[in-house]
Amino acid sequence: MMCGSPFLFLLCFFRKRPLSRKETDGYNVIAEDLLNNRSNLTIEVRPMPNDALPSQVFIDAAAKFPTPFHLYDEAGIRRTARAVREAFAWNPDYREYYAVKALPNPVILDILKQEGLGLDCSSLTELLMAERLGFHGNEIMFSANAMPAEEFDLARKLGAIINLDDISDIGLLEKHGGIPETVCVRVNTGGTFTFGSNRIMGNPGEAKYGWMPSQLNEGLNRLKALGVKRFGMHAFLASNMTDPGYYPALAHILFDLLRKTAEATGLEPAFANLSGGIGIPYTRDVPPVDIRAVGEAVRKEYMAVFGEPAPGKPGIKTELGRYITGPHGFVVTHAVHEKKTFKHYIGVDACAVQLIRPAMYGAYHEISIVGREHEPPTETYDITGCLCENNDKFAIDRPMPEIHMGDLLIIHDAGAHAFAMGYQYNGRLRKAEILYRTDGSYQQIRRAETPEDYFATMVWPE
Ligand SMILES: Cc1ncc(COP(=O)(O)O)c(C=O)c1O
Repeated sequence: MMCGSPFLFLLCFFRKRPLSRKETDGYNVIAEDLLNNRSNLTIEVRPMPNDALPSQVFIDAAAKFPTPFHLYDEAGIRRTARAVREAFAWNPDYREYYAVKALPNPVILDILKQEGLGLDCSSLTELLMAERLGFHGNEIMFSANAMPAEEFDLARKLGAIINLDDISDIGLLEKHGGIPETVCVRVNTGGTFTFGSNRIMGNPGEAKYGWMPSQLNEGLNRLKALGVKRFGMHAFLASNMTDPGYYPALAHILFDLLRKTAEATGLEPAFANLSGGIGIPYTRDVPPVDIRAVGEAVRKEYMAVFGEPAPGKPGIKTELGRYITGPHGFVVTHAVHEKKTFKHYIGVDACAVQLIRPAMYGAYHEISIVGREHEPPTETYDITGCLCENNDKFAIDRPMPEIHMGDLLIIHDAGAHAFAMGYQYNGRLRKAEILYRTDGSYQQIRRAETPEDYFATMVWPE
């Protein structure tokens, strides 16, 4: 039977017969059953993003450290890390590998280590950080992606689980570090990823990552001949998903493909890696994802394919970044300029160097005035930084209470893919990172760059 339409394709899933090459390349997934189960996925509504910290925390921090800086809430990070672990504790072989790229600060990574998390590394530098922090063996996931082959050498030396991005990586891994007994493969299901009422959640067909499902049997048989005994399967089909159905829909696909590929190759199915992608509500109207309910919905998908979880059965891995630290980071900045031309501008002492997401993606970040968080908006502002770049704006046409020069502003949800994406355009330097500790103290966990740091790699004429 050809599964040309999505509905016929869905039928193929339920018939549990192996999918043909044609069917598994570029398929759409419509997981209607998940939509029907959505009522089980309870959600809690928060009144405002990240109002977990009282204003005084920011006032005290700004009295100690020059703005702008990033401030992270240790208690919040620990709380979320624990909630994630608890949500998947039903699986005896569960591990969260925090995506280092989201917040590559050693003190934060050490906190996550204390919480029992592993690390997902995607570069030599991230592997070196993991090594220096004492992560080793299967506490590290190494996600390959058109990377220098030498990086495999270090990943193998550390005993990391290697997540191969392409069938051609097999040859590279063989030459660089050698083929391990357990390997992971990243799958790209192609097409668009949809579920529920046909809503497009992601566009894997346009993503550079992963193997086509039709390449799996050939590649894994090659790996088997080279000594592989067990394999995991990884997929990241959509980003910043605040729909609690995302992980269950992905699990539905991965578990099925894992089982079928194991049957076809005779290899042991070691784990499904659901990667990152669970989102956070950057705006007030979006409810936060209830991770316990997501874990429970993934468990149901697991039961349907593998039965009761038990040691020796496939494990579950996740690589959440944004979900764990995103809501617990803030850019703390002062209003320093006011300008009225064609629009009403407020200039702050932070700029896109500290947080590029609004400039890069037009991303929305909540902004509040410390001490006046709940005042109603009376003005409409563009909140800008000082770069010679017109897109250096943290907010455009944003209704806000009146801002006075010297007001302390907080840009919320800056705990992931925020500082990490910083750059130095205009010779603007990266600023400090401050940790608000569980005992109420503040620790500078990265100093601000100096002009000497900026000049350090340059060659100056004699
Ligand atoms: C391989 C991989 N894993 C995990 C993540 C983390 O994603 P998120 O922070 O959206 O959870 C990313 C993000 O780019 C990624 O590329």
